[in-house]
Amino acid sequence: MVIYLVGFMGCGKSSVGRRVAKRLGFEFADTDSMVEEAAGASVPEIFARDGEEAFRRMESEVLCRFDPASNTIVATGGGAACSDANIEAMKSRGRMIYFRLSADRLFERLQRGRHHRPKIADMDDASLMEYISSTLAMREPFYSQASMAIDCDGVSDEYIADHIRYYIEAMRYETAGR
Ligand code: S3P
Repeated sequence: MVIYLVGFMGCGKSSVGRRVAKRLGFEFADTDSMVEEAAGASVPEIFARDGEEAFRRMESEVLCRFDPASNTIVATGGGAACSDANIEAMKSRGRMIYFRLSADRLFERLQRGRHHRPKIADMDDASLMEYISSTLAMREPFYSQASMAIDCDGVSDEYIADHIRYYIEAMRYETAGR
């Protein structure tokens, strides 16, 4: 079973995904790291050197690398779910789970982590808040196509990890019963 974690930058896909994968004995992958490895450069370097479109092409390609028969948790970049083709690619290989956070909570988290994220690295607080609100509104219709959304405001990583585990157990039960 391939589980793609989707959601805005800074919502915890990588940290929680790694933890759940370890607990369940699943493989863990991070699409940003896979693109970095393929390009031999960091995400900010790829944006600066090749442009966002080139990054998006590589991101779409790595989303398709997963074997549906494997047991893998994939943390995707915040923009990876924002195309119909990428959603189709993920749904044809596995399930998507959306980590839903409010714009206020994302702002708190991204204020600290903005510097290695090229889309927001140079923004002041007001621009960052505006970017989060407007971009989240545009992306929400894509993220919401996930099979399950977890409301992550004010909950622990452990709580989110438990939800993913329950979901995977339910899926296994459903598949075994067929
Ligand atoms: C992006 C999110 C980043 C990374 C790139 C673009 C976005 O991933 O893919 O900087 O467009 O939201 P994280 O969500 O892991 O920060």
